[in-house]
Amino acid sequence: MWQLLLPTALLLLVSAGTQAADLPKAVVLLDPQWDRVLQDDTVTLKCQGDYALGDSSTKWWHNGSFISNQASSFTIEAKVEDSGEYKCQTGLSALSDPVHLEVHVDWLLLQAPQRVVKEGEPIWLRCHSWKNRPVHKVQYFQNGRGQMFYHWNSYFNISKATLEHSGSYFCRGLIGNKNESSKAVDITVKGLENPLFFPPWHQIALCLLLGLLFAVDTGLYFSVQRDLRSSKKDCRGAKVTWSQGSQDK
Ligand SMILES: *[C@@H]1O[C@H](CO)[C@@H](O)[C@H](O)[C@H]1NC(C)=O
Repeated sequence: MWQLLLPTALLLLVSAGTQAADLPKAVVLLDPQWDRVLQDDTVTLKCQGDYALGDSSTKWWHNGSFISNQASSFTIEAKVEDSGEYKCQTGLSALSDPVHLEVHVDWLLLQAPQRVVKEGEPIWLRCHSWKNRPVHKVQYFQNGRGQMFYHWNSYFNISKATLEHSGSYFCRGLIGNKNESSKAVDITVKGLENPLFFPPWHQIALCLLLGLLFAVDTGLYFSVQRDLRSSKKDCRGAKVTWSQGSQDK
């Protein structure tokens, strides 16, 4: 029986390990989605995760310190000191990955849903003004070259990004009669030269280990069965010998 103990113990260890790692991570969501905002913008932070029965509390961290807010979402009028890293956790979730929020003090801010996009995906940019003041004669620039001009503020769309769309972007426009420019934002378009998907190494290791344990267990099962069968035969053999022996007497 001791032969079975080692694989069983290993199997228990592995399943305990995967259970802890299997709790899905909570996710911090920003609504609206922008991770760079202007001062006084309204931002709702939401924590997405599973809750234990009867425990609907949510834990939040801002720049590593615990915030007492227990709700699954809360809304701020962004201030510079709200900048930084947010993490959350619910009863049945693992600690989320951090989400970074940048709060800027400026007249115009260039916003992008993603600053790194894959080739072929869309890029879109927003020239956001402080307190959403009207902006006109808006122009978007890439690496210092004017790209698009709008009489009234509008999003700048590229439906399919190519590598040439990588670069530093900013926007400029008139707020009242003040000529204002945003700071520059780097947008990176990544090529598709690496389309193969490699699963993380610890998952491969786990699969190999499980396969090995299965093989060991199957092997043990058959060897134990064989032992049992042969020991049954031995018993019968012994009986026969014994009865033959007794008849001989
Ligand atoms: C804003 O200023 C720049 C020079 O800094 C000028 O080239 C541009 O035409 C001005 N924009 C508007 C809409 O007047």
